[in-house]
Amino acid sequence: MKRIVILISGRGSNMEAIVEACAAQAWPARVAAVISNRADAAGLDYAAARGIATAVVEHRAYADREGFDAALAQAIDAQAPDVVVLAGFMRILTPGFVQRYAGRLLNIHPSLLPAFTGLHTHRRAIEAGCKLAGATVHYVTAELDHGPIVAQAAVPVLPGDTEQTLAARVLASEHRLYPMAVRWAIEDALQVDANGVVRQRDGAAQLML
Ligand code: GRF
Repeated sequence: MKRIVILISGRGSNMEAIVEACAAQAWPARVAAVISNRADAAGLDYAAARGIATAVVEHRAYADREGFDAALAQAIDAQAPDVVVLAGFMRILTPGFVQRYAGRLLNIHPSLLPAFTGLHTHRRAIEAGCKLAGATVHYVTAELDHGPIVAQAAVPVLPGDTEQTLAARVLASEHRLYPMAVRWAIEDALQVDANGVVRQRDGAAQLML
């Protein structure tokens, strides 16, 4: 059984989707722990109710990023994970941390990367007049929202969309996309080639919703 550790900062709906897909599809893996940098993250209650180990590493308790990342790495390593999943984890990680988990650290970003790195992706997509929006699962590298792309989901931007309506449509796509991508990582179906491009064993890496 492979071991997954999921890092959250809040609601944790992507974490829920992964926990549920792992159980429903009987992955050869289990979610070993959910770790948050905030004690009030709502997702912690869901994880605990599912019998999953939870931990809190409060970023505010550390003087600098290095100190926080070292404590976080200790909590993660205690679980000996094969895959570490960032699911709405709102901290920028140090290059040393990213290097430690190179090749097994995934993130989901609510845009079609490389467009709209950073925050307020839905508002910016509407303002730019985009006709499609979506989400991207990527390996994490030291540069924020820039790692090799594993999979993408595209949804339409509809006339009259607000930031909220578009965010809800994208989030629903995330809940399908992220479990699919994490499962590929668990099944060793992903390879990063010499150009830093991810090849998925069966060639499928997109959802059009
Ligand atoms: C998602 O939109 C994700 O793409 C972004 O933060 C949000 C997290 O939502 N990184 P949740 O905590 O998984 O519900």
